[in-house]
Amino acid sequence: MKITAIRDPIAQVAADAVIVGVLQDDSLAGPASELNSATSGVLDQLIEQKEITGKRFELVPILAPTGVQTRQILVVGLGKRESLDRGTVFRATATAVRHLAGKQRSKVALCLGERWAAELHESAVAGALVGCHGQDLYRAEKTRRAFDELLVGDAEATALTSGEILGESINLARHLVDQPPSEIYPESFAQIAQDVAAQCGIKIEVWDPQRLESERCGSLLAVARGSVKTPRLVIMRYAGGSADTPTLGLVGKGVTFDSGGLSLKPSNGMVDMKCDMAGAASVLGAMQGIARLKLPVNVIGLMGLVENMVSGTSYKLGDVLTARNGRTIEVRNTDAEGRLVLADTLAVAVDEGASKIIDLATLTGACVVALGNDVVGLMSNDQGWCDQVAAAAGLCGEPAWQLPMFDEFAEQIKSPIADIKNIGDGRWGGAITAAKFLEEFVSDVPWTHIDIAGPAYLEKEKPWSDGGGSGVMVRTLVEVARRWG
Ligand code: BES
Ligand code: MN
Ligand code: ZN
Repeated sequence: MKITAIRDPIAQVAADAVIVGVLQDDSLAGPASELNSATSGVLDQLIEQKEITGKRFELVPILAPTGVQTRQILVVGLGKRESLDRGTVFRATATAVRHLAGKQRSKVALCLGERWAAELHESAVAGALVGCHGQDLYRAEKTRRAFDELLVGDAEATALTSGEILGESINLARHLVDQPPSEIYPESFAQIAQDVAAQCGIKIEVWDPQRLESERCGSLLAVARGSVKTPRLVIMRYAGGSADTPTLGLVGKGVTFDSGGLSLKPSNGMVDMKCDMAGAASVLGAMQGIARLKLPVNVIGLMGLVENMVSGTSYKLGDVLTARNGRTIEVRNTDAEGRLVLADTLAVAVDEGASKIIDLATLTGACVVALGNDVVGLMSNDQGWCDQVAAAAGLCGEPAWQLPMFDEFAEQIKSPIADIKNIGDGRWGGAITAAKFLEEFVSDVPWTHIDIAGPAYLEKEKPWSDGGGSGVMVRTLVEVARRWG
């Protein structure tokens, strides 16, 4: 989709639709008031009739308007002025664009507001790209179609470019999650990472099973054993900063399909488990975004890629594994596989010299019980670092909430035979006992774990997004990198 700036007055822009923003309980802003005058007060009329209220994400299409060159004006509510932030703009734009992308349109203009800060325009463009990317990969008749051209009013060229980069990075993560598990398996995921790296100037190393063996990644390898698809560990290095500056480490869980292993999931629990690589997908999306934005920082991105399957070679309950950092782990449930994959991947991140680490994982159903489907869980060994991650998420409008890491939770993962076991004593506090397990593998590096099990995959569509992969936390990770160092 071509993205260009609008030069002409908005009333003279010939387009299939013009998207314009209206604030709640506020006067009409620049583009909205221009369109209002050109149409002899149609917007005023609709406001008076309470058809347009400006409530967040309200859509009011005005078809075949007169006095303007566009075939449709789509009014989108932006909510109250005081709560207008990046998250609202992202979702409002995505909602409007998603509505229009249901039909073939060649030219759409985006004129949400006037004299906005660059980051609001950036969020609008990113939201626009997300709004026209659908879940319909294999449908003959597409439900979402990108426009040929998106025209954007009142924005600097740099905001258009960075918005496009963000939108494409989110969509990359979404696309990876949406593809079927027979298409996306460790080797094919690693190949895509290699393509991304080549396109964006990122160094990349891919560890195959032999290398994983020699690197003592016994915990990750155990999970992979039941599958004919062999595991990979991807290490991407983006060096945008000088060599003596600290390195941000991003780590993603990449279980390309989670059957549960011998602790087999029931069909209901397995049906969407192609999404279990969403952490790795968001890390890859963020790495692409950071590199294409040419941020002046050093970032390493690690993805632990395995398929958790059932066969005669599967790892078993009662097995004792030795992880890369020497810790021994008693396996008491093969469905608690994500933490076993992350154990070694986190240890590699530490060994590679990450000064601070963030990991993302669809780790526990318990986190969804605690926080629901729209909020990610944050757990950390370093309050300052956790606050930084939470602040970035807040700025981007990605809901995140911290869970406590009291020592009591660690009692639950003690094992009589090994250093630790891979599950707690019961279901309670399961998101935290999982995080306590991960903490064993980050040494004393400041680390924040993000459990994305709820928001990573939308079972149903939202006004601003089709169902399926959400690309959750891509914007937040890029924001962390922007504020890094
Ligand atoms: N991938 C799942 C967690 C999950 C659940 C992600 C729902 C997305 C939606 C993870 O590997 C898992 O199976 N966790 C178990 C842990 C338990 C065995 C301690 C769970 O949450 O039931
Ligand atoms: Mn599992
Ligand atoms: Zn899993």
